[in-house]
Amino acid sequence: MNIITGKAKVAAVLGWPVVHSRSPLLHNFWLERYNIDGVYIPMSVKPENFKMVIQAMVASEFKGCNVTIPNKEIAYTCCDEIDEIARKTGSVNTLIFKDNGKIFGMSTDGVGFIESLQDYKINLKNCKALILGAGGAARSVAFSLIQKGAKIAITNRTKSRAVQLIDDLGAGEILEWENWFFLLNQYDLLINTTSLGMEGKECYNFDLSKAKTDLVVTDIVYVPRLTPLLKEAQNHHLKTIEGLGMLLHQARFGFREWFGIDPEIDHETIEYVTKTIKS
Ligand code: ATR
Repeated sequence: MNIITGKAKVAAVLGWPVVHSRSPLLHNFWLERYNIDGVYIPMSVKPENFKMVIQAMVASEFKGCNVTIPNKEIAYTCCDEIDEIARKTGSVNTLIFKDNGKIFGMSTDGVGFIESLQDYKINLKNCKALILGAGGAARSVAFSLIQKGAKIAITNRTKSRAVQLIDDLGAGEILEWENWFFLLNQYDLLINTTSLGMEGKECYNFDLSKAKTDLVVTDIVYVPRLTPLLKEAQNHHLKTIEGLGMLLHQARFGFREWFGIDPEIDHETIEYVTKTIKS
């Protein structure tokens, strides 16, 4: 077991609610694996208390934190410096408290998503990607895909959000939410960034019958691991990539900054985290 002393490096995840977060499990697993004098804690923080809590964390010499729903936008406003994707998405999920007192904010969901695709050797250059959803996660994924040379289309229940996102991206097309599945044969990659299919949330009758046989289907929902969308894709013998990879990859950036080691995502890490997730 890793020893936690008075000199331990401390990081946290701030959400409301935070009980569903798998980040404490994952980071503490890595801390133990690399025998680091450090600890990662869940903190239940409402948006209205967020700034006050961050100030207290900086004053207590925390190394930084992850930020989850609903705090990603308020966290953005606390940063002194941000990375490019954060600037484009207006939200952050990782804060680094620097030694000079400044707060650096990163949006690592999109890059984590791209890295999880790279595990499967997906070529994104000129790949035609259809994104379901136009919320914060969709923004992060869309900007990162464009950086890699993919061509984007968005469909969203509320069309005005899709229009706004395409406008901000400066490229891409919009499909109607009611009939995107009829046009599926034009796409190489399908990504669900909505909460549809998440445990406890609404489901949806995903129809993938018009897909090309080489369509790759991904879901950023990871509870359950085999989501209704991925199940439907498997019924059509399509290649699927589960959302857990994005969770694991986005976490690496913070861990490296706070604790000084680039953690490996191997079979044991995946097994450990999935022990708590129903398939
Ligand atoms: P996040 O930052 O996690 O992406 P969000 O900004 O609330 O969260 O976005 C959630 C996404 O899921 C949105 O695209 C939302 O569609 P709307 O813009 O129409 O709200 C989508 N979503 C959530 N519930 C949905 C449902 N029942 N049917 C269709 N889309 C849904």
